[in-house]
Amino acid sequence: MAYAGGVDVGSTQTKAVVVDEHAQIVGRAIIDTGSNVITAAENAFRIAVKNVGVDEAEVEYIVGTGYGRYKVTFGDTQITEISCHARGAVHMFPGTRTVLDMGGQDTKAIRVRDNGEVVDFCMNDKCAAGTGRFLQAAAFALEIPLADLGPTALRAEKAVAISTTCTVFAESEVLSWLGRGKKIEDILLGVHRSIGSRSMALLRRVGIEEQVTFTGGVTKNQGMVEVMNQMLGFQVNTGGEAHLMGALGAALFALDRIKASRVPHHAKEGVA
Ligand SMILES: Nc1ncnc2c1ncn2[C@@H]1O[C@H](COP(=O)(O)OP(=O)(O)OP(=O)(O)O)[C@@H](O)[C@H]1O
Ligand SMILES: [Mg+2]
Repeated sequence: MAYAGGVDVGSTQTKAVVVDEHAQIVGRAIIDTGSNVITAAENAFRIAVKNVGVDEAEVEYIVGTGYGRYKVTFGDTQITEISCHARGAVHMFPGTRTVLDMGGQDTKAIRVRDNGEVVDFCMNDKCAAGTGRFLQAAAFALEIPLADLGPTALRAEKAVAISTTCTVFAESEVLSWLGRGKKIEDILLGVHRSIGSRSMALLRRVGIEEQVTFTGGVTKNQGMVEVMNQMLGFQVNTGGEAHLMGALGAALFALDRIKASRVPHHAKEGVA
């Protein structure tokens, strides 16, 4: 059995996936990237391989992706996260034509062909206001765990209109609404909607074609998934593996390389 690995070193979390030769996920890991990016890549990969119960050497080819892809020192090659999220999303949901990746620092909208090839993409420039970082700032200000953000926002009755366009000011705006007597859930729905509108603007720039697959760590936030469904007017594809989509795409590219290297020489030349 051949194994292929993908390691997605994100600004916030590092994800690793191992697939078998049938392109099934057999090992996975998600850890915080922290300050030592090289170690994060190594640790995530080690955990994913341990999951499979094989030797690291049995993972024949490894692709690094994400902002820290060049820190995957044990990787065989690097591929951008745009290509990897697209590939992973189309593999999981073959009807995907648009991908929305919401990570810790970047949000990306990607248009794809049915084979997973990228047609066009666009991302937030240097500003984290439409990303997971904005949610983290709100969680910090309200002193509630990240995992409670979505469920709390879903209890809102009337969203507060969040006006700040910068993560740096998110904390003070959230606290000022709290001081003015607004309920936490209403403030949080406002925060989710503000991120939702920014994402919609990115999606419109590449053109929204169904189906839309929502990837990245923010998919763990059910409130954000609901807000995207409402704003789009239809349901996005997402789910348990959505956080791993970039690492999965990287592992699938790695598997392609393994398979290509096995094609007998005469077949490559087109000789029967
Ligand atoms: N359990 C959880 N509940 C809610 N949100 C979560 C949870 N786990 C992660 N997140 C969100 O996911 C974000 C991290 O997502 P992801 O791992 O896709 O980012 P990244 O790839 O490191 O960042 P980037 O792609 O921007 O470099 C965090 O900022 C947080 O908002
Ligand atoms: Mg990412």
